[in-house]
Amino acid sequence: MTKLKICVIGAGGREHALAVALSRTADVVVCPGNPGMAAMGVKCVQGSPQAVEADLYVIGPEAPLVAGLADRLRHDGRLVFGPGADGARLEGSKAWMKQVLADAGVPTPGYGAFDALGPAVEFLRSLPGPWVVKTDGLAAGKGVLVTHDRDEAEADVAAKLSGHAFGEAGRTVVVEEGLIGSELSVMALCDGTSAVALAPARDHKRAFDGGTGPNTGGMGAYSPVSGVGDELVARVMADAVLPTLQSLSARGVDYRGVLYAGVMLTEHGAKVLEFNVRFGDPETQAVMARWDGDVAAALAAAAAGRLDEAAPPVFRPDASVCVVMAAPGYPTDPQLGGAIERIDVSKLRGVQVHCAGVGAAPGSDAPSGLVTAGGRVLGVTATGPSIGEARQAVYRALPSLHWPGAWWRSDIGESEAREERKSL
Ligand code: AMP
Ligand code: GLY
Repeated sequence: MTKLKICVIGAGGREHALAVALSRTADVVVCPGNPGMAAMGVKCVQGSPQAVEADLYVIGPEAPLVAGLADRLRHDGRLVFGPGADGARLEGSKAWMKQVLADAGVPTPGYGAFDALGPAVEFLRSLPGPWVVKTDGLAAGKGVLVTHDRDEAEADVAAKLSGHAFGEAGRTVVVEEGLIGSELSVMALCDGTSAVALAPARDHKRAFDGGTGPNTGGMGAYSPVSGVGDELVARVMADAVLPTLQSLSARGVDYRGVLYAGVMLTEHGAKVLEFNVRFGDPETQAVMARWDGDVAAALAAAAAGRLDEAAPPVFRPDASVCVVMAAPGYPTDPQLGGAIERIDVSKLRGVQVHCAGVGAAPGSDAPSGLVTAGGRVLGVTATGPSIGEARQAVYRALPSLHWPGAWWRSDIGESEAREERKSL
């Protein structure tokens, strides 16, 4: 049988991890990819994805989805994994997402959407706190403030609405009831009418150890998650993912791609904080490390509206931990251009490196020819029989990868490993 030719669209660690997983059974190119993944043997092509001939297009990031890339490719008769602009609006507008969730009866924190300061502040003052202020539009995971300080929340509303903090993305804000609990990422493959869950993962969104500092795109992730068995995942699918898919379908949206539910597990049950319309980053790095089977066939079946024709995803019992290595100053003011000494961990068993913010530096003194070109530079993922062992392997590997000012959180999966030890 000839292999599927797949074009993965995007340039980050998620796309690198997807390319590696898809390559097990397909011929993969990444458009545009980055010089780091190219140095590690991934075929990268520049230019428009429409100029790439492929049997399947897998769109990684939210911005091209929101901008209608899937629609343009489908219009040309291509098979695409990723929603059209109509479905991607779920992530492109948090106010619209909250409306869809409310209509679908999906449990989600109470909220209001505002484009004027007075009513926003009035609503905020009616909530008991903690307070959450979100930009309506895309902000690379950084447009959310969660605070116990009401004055800070009010100042944030003003900064966002003025356009100073996030430009047009903040001209409408969502003010939300803050929830307490632990978070969970459930990513589901959708084919327009049905959906199947991937292994659950947990992200670490705050920049610094102990969950402190500003929100980031994600500093590390692990899978599986203690206390989150098949039953809880099935409940998230039944209460959140499937009603949302049905509600989209009733609005005429044929949603094919990943629906990623960011969930808070509270004492009153699981509540959806957000839907993303794509694979999570770095959850994908952790989840793909455990997916045991034909990833290409599953994504192609979802894209074709025929999930029932692919084998359901199966995950190895092994645990995986992904730690993101960042550039100095990330997330507020990342300093880029640092010479990367080495990205090769091929001697370390069970450890993989995925390149995110990695650029080329022809003529520089970087021994690898690579430099930092984004705030999140590398995702390093290890697997092992337990989260504790995967953690040990990943943290042993990190110091061998280096550029000036490289840093990472030291507590990815730490509380999970503690839970494991307790249950021994
Ligand atoms: P979002 O982009 O909506 O997922 O928000 C980013 C992060 O902010 C989430 O992963 C949570 O850590 C936090 N967050 C968002 N909404 C809430 C909420 N209502 N209560 C508590 N934390 C939240
Ligand atoms: N890791 C969070 C996200 O992908 O949105």
